[in-house]
Amino acid sequence: MDIIEAADISKHYRQYARFPGFIGALRSLVTKQYTEEKAVQHISFSIAEGEAVGYLGPNGAGKSTMIKMLTGILVPTAGRLTVLGNIPHQARRQNASQIGVVFGQRSQLWWDLPLLDSFDLHRYIYKLTPAQYKASLDFCTELLSLDRFMHKPVRQLSLGQRMRAEIAIALLHEPKLLFLDEPTIGLDVMAKDEIRKFLRTVNQEKKVTILLTTHDMQDIEEICPRMLVVSGGKLVYDGSVTELRSRLGQERQVTIEFRHDPGVIEWPGITLLHDYGLRKTYLFERGEASAFETLSAIAARYPIADVSLENAGIETVIRRLYKQLESEEARPELANPGMELVR
Ligand SMILES: Nc1ncnc2c1ncn2[C@@H]1O[C@H](COP(=O)(O)OP(=O)(O)O)[C@@H](O)[C@H]1O
Ligand SMILES: [Mg+2]
Repeated sequence: MDIIEAADISKHYRQYARFPGFIGALRSLVTKQYTEEKAVQHISFSIAEGEAVGYLGPNGAGKSTMIKMLTGILVPTAGRLTVLGNIPHQARRQNASQIGVVFGQRSQLWWDLPLLDSFDLHRYIYKLTPAQYKASLDFCTELLSLDRFMHKPVRQLSLGQRMRAEIAIALLHEPKLLFLDEPTIGLDVMAKDEIRKFLRTVNQEKKVTILLTTHDMQDIEEICPRMLVVSGGKLVYDGSVTELRSRLGQERQVTIEFRHDPGVIEWPGITLLHDYGLRKTYLFERGEASAFETLSAIAARYPIADVSLENAGIETVIRRLYKQLESEEARPELANPGMELVR
């Protein structure tokens, strides 16, 4: 069963012109001049119960706007949206008991109170029985190690601890569907890792359907088998990372551990991806000399301690997708650029 259906959804923001000064302020009140920002343009997708889907795109691509429409905070300008069979903005109350929401940039916690008080308040709002509350809290407390800071005021928590608490509180009433808007933004590697692991468990063991937005490709790779990629308000890809990889062509990268830092290496057929001094990662360009030939030639010239060859990371794959879209846009004969990538 599809738990989310978005059919041809658009959202345009109107921004009315503002004029400076006192007279200007009065004029701003009555002006009909506005500019329109097309934040979401004709997006369609559906999500089945139990899926974990990543909504990926650069800043300003329209990710938060989509989450706000799905949670009923914003009304689409056009198109038809259903979540759990309801139209989100008309069924905020009905849907509230079945969805959980986490906004990475906005807190649901009481800043000055011990964390536990926020949980208590949610228990009251959602009218949870003591048994429900205990089971749910125990699950999160154990997997997210909340007990270490349960009695601390929220303002004293680290960002990583706070995000763990935000996610736990969004799950307290055991929703079927969890929306997260940039849940790992600003976190260090360890904290990100902990949150990714937890979300995977919630999806796989508790069967909670997850839709999360991110501009961090690693989030997708580790939590979401399926991704929707948006760019400039449009959906440009819907499918798995593996599928995208094979469609764009398999790329390989090599990480070389040099004995001495060789500085910049200009070699045909390779591009530098990461430079950590002695350790550098290069991408093999397709159509150039074979990876083996290139590697042996480099090894003959520079002393090498170790080499590892792997498939290009998701970042490289996505970067290629955007590049391909750009070049298609430069060729106007291709109507609806990139849409052939949407299944
Ligand atoms: N309330 C608003 N009024 C006008 N424009 C907005 C508003 N909210 C977002 N936008 C614009 O819509 C576009 C998409 O924004 P957003 O959905 O926040 O993107 P993302 O979350 O992917 O970074 C951006 O160009 C942003 O400036
Ligand atoms: Mg956003």
